[in-house]
Amino acid sequence: MTDKAILTIGDRQYELPIIRGTDGDQGIDISRLREMTGMVTYDPSLANTAVCRSAITFIDGEQGVLRYRGIPIEQFTEKPNFVEAAYLLIFGKLPSHAELKDFSSRLTENELLHEGLKHQYQHIPVDAPPMAILSATLSNLACFHPQFLALEDPESFIEAAARLISKVRTIAAFSYRRSRGMPFVYPDPHLRYCANFLHMMFSIPYKQYIVTREIEDALNLVLILHADHEQNCSTATVRTVGSARANLFASCAAGVCALWGPLHGGANVEVIEMLERIHRGGMTPEECLRLAKDKTNPFRLYGFGHRVYKNYDPRARILKDASEKVFATLNRHDPLLDIARKLEELALADPYFVDRRLYPNVDFYSGILLRAMGIPTNMFTVLFAIGRLPGWIAQWREQHDDPTSKIIRPRQIYVGPPKTDYVPMERRSL
Ligand code: CMC
Repeated sequence: MTDKAILTIGDRQYELPIIRGTDGDQGIDISRLREMTGMVTYDPSLANTAVCRSAITFIDGEQGVLRYRGIPIEQFTEKPNFVEAAYLLIFGKLPSHAELKDFSSRLTENELLHEGLKHQYQHIPVDAPPMAILSATLSNLACFHPQFLALEDPESFIEAAARLISKVRTIAAFSYRRSRGMPFVYPDPHLRYCANFLHMMFSIPYKQYIVTREIEDALNLVLILHADHEQNCSTATVRTVGSARANLFASCAAGVCALWGPLHGGANVEVIEMLERIHRGGMTPEECLRLAKDKTNPFRLYGFGHRVYKNYDPRARILKDASEKVFATLNRHDPLLDIARKLEELALADPYFVDRRLYPNVDFYSGILLRAMGIPTNMFTVLFAIGRLPGWIAQWREQHDDPTSKIIRPRQIYVGPPKTDYVPMERRSL
């Protein structure tokens, strides 16, 4: 197979190298294009542009395949362990027993928030959006841990990563408690990662929340399935901010802001609101699809469609099965699950969705599972962020350690006014 692409512009030809990835990905290397031709490429929203080489996550969107460091996502479902998956993503290998123990101990040692940071919650309005609190507080960690602004040695990096992964769940749980006017519950060092988060969310003074194994496993699974997804919007944001050599806290805080958007992580909230609206009788599933297809209306079938997957998102399949299993185990029933199944059935038989290859994505069933754990809707995207944090850290590090990486600075095609003279105020016409 050829290893060059030939570009013809006018009567000149240019040879461009072809780069090949491990599993069949191919890209035309245009890094010298402007230097050679004076031209740039035009690719709005970067749908056809690989911005880096990465060894972290592989997606085959046509086949619906997702792998972390080569391991198919389905293989994490048997005994889901989010901390182990986080280690794998960040450090590139499954941890040994001793490495996992060491990493878990670091998480436990860093689970508390500085009291100064904790007091800041008192000055935040009770109804503040938890994603705003999360991004602000992650950014604020830089004030309390200035020793981790430059991460030039492995020990500083692992300590900074452990602080972020550990504290994010304390920050998230405290923002929930604040919104409910409930006292903060400190982390319990005897609990595992997910159980500890649920304890901080739901224990009350003198009444410890008892975490069942089913719920703990389900939360581990949800976090693992969100842990990385190559160059999605928030990860691209983390890389862009990090490319300016901004610190890890600031870069991850920026990732949270991007994730908040309803076309990205915020879709999990939109999905539940859509299902609840149908449940309340506000619209039928058929009307919901009609609205989603109406190009004069910004409404979309949330939880459907994906930039990369043109097949069933493997995470959605796992989450759908997990939701059914959890409800069966708890001997409970959620009418929203029935509505979601119905919507999926209708959409997958509708030419609009079939022709555009729109399938359920990770956000379609995740909220139903989070509801089963008692997580309120306004915390769904925060849960996505807790899950995605190891991915952001891994991607930040990969870029930071790459000696060839440069500041991310795209080009544009200017389409504004041609050169125009400045007009003093008194001579401007109305
Ligand atoms: N409902 C209705 N129409 C849709 C939907 C949808 N959910 N998704 C895509 N389309 C249509 C879109 O209007 C366009 O139609 P046309 O060709 O007639 O103009 C066509 O399908 C292609 O869509 P696109 O917007 O060009 O695709 P994209 O790759 O730019 O966007 C997406 C991907 C995920 C933003 C989009 O599918 C969407 O808005 N989905 C709903 C929001 C959502 O569920 N987001 C979560 C994504 S997965 C997790 C994550 O990344 O956070």
